[in-house]
Amino acid sequence: MTLPQPPMSLLAELTHRCPLACPYCSNPLDLERKSAELDTAGWRLVLEQAAEMGVLQVHFSGGEPMARPDLVELVTLARKLNLYTNLITSGVLLDANKLEALDKAGLDHIQLSFQDVTEEGAERIGGLKGAQERKLKAARLIQASGIPMTLNFVVHRENVSRIPQMFELTRELQAGRVEIAHTQYYGWGLKNRDALLPSREQLEESTRAVEAERAKGGLAIDYVTPDYHADRPKPCMGGWGQRFVNISPSGRVLPCHAAEIIPNVTFPNVRDESLAEIWNNSRLFNMFRGTEWMPEACRACDRREIDWGGCRCQALALTGDAANMDPVCERSPFHDVVKAARDHLEAPELVYRRASK
Ligand code: FES
Repeated sequence: MTLPQPPMSLLAELTHRCPLACPYCSNPLDLERKSAELDTAGWRLVLEQAAEMGVLQVHFSGGEPMARPDLVELVTLARKLNLYTNLITSGVLLDANKLEALDKAGLDHIQLSFQDVTEEGAERIGGLKGAQERKLKAARLIQASGIPMTLNFVVHRENVSRIPQMFELTRELQAGRVEIAHTQYYGWGLKNRDALLPSREQLEESTRAVEAERAKGGLAIDYVTPDYHADRPKPCMGGWGQRFVNISPSGRVLPCHAAEIIPNVTFPNVRDESLAEIWNNSRLFNMFRGTEWMPEACRACDRREIDWGGCRCQALALTGDAANMDPVCERSPFHDVVKAARDHLEAPELVYRRASK
């Protein structure tokens, strides 16, 4: 049997703990507790096994990865193993001393998230008073340190009109790169979809704002659009089990951040098996790898190795079966579910991300 190519990137979700409570968080609804987290030795083993497999990049994420006191130790080890290191952070726990330690550890890049450009908008989404000021301070420290920085703005119905100001802030903070990412509707995002999903007009307005900024030059812009206004699915994670591997705080190894909703499958864990064994041979990773598993219409489609059938978690969440066609595809018999969601006009109250009792 031919073994799959090793993953290019590893997303290390060091913890689900986070001072913010964003209603579109990509973490699962059932957040993992501190007591369940892998310890430092567990994460060290993950990094060693990843490097041995041929992984090139590690993204330290969460929750808020800076809540882990061993972050600097893990970055140091990852660099020693020749892994490119990226820290995905809200910045609210960052100070000059911690940044200096991360810099010394060799951290390659920081992705700093902003909930909005206004204090009011940022506090409404993040649920943390004073967060915007702390983020601005963190951005200035990072800029002064010389560590390459990308600002990340998640956009939705409430803040989409402020994209031009997001670019202004990016230029003012001298970040070389910015990501304008429409909310992805999984987990908490799906729970809040009717409150967050922008209208078609808002999406078009956001695309115009991005194009206008691109035309000015001098800024690298990544733009992620919402699936719900598309007619063809995205190649979620670059294809199931093909390029990315996620490790949850407790060591579960997943093909994407939302895969824990897949029913009737045992989630492999780095406490029990090696990363390579899980990547190559586990039932979970082989379930939707390649094109064999696809429904007839997808297998016959000339985009089957472009979008790899779209998103399995979306198919599950919206149709009840992860093996169904992604309902975003206009050829899917379930496409009406997506149309109904984008035509939904009422915006309910936001449900904030919180650990269940
Ligand atoms: Fe799981 Fe798309 S989020 S496959």
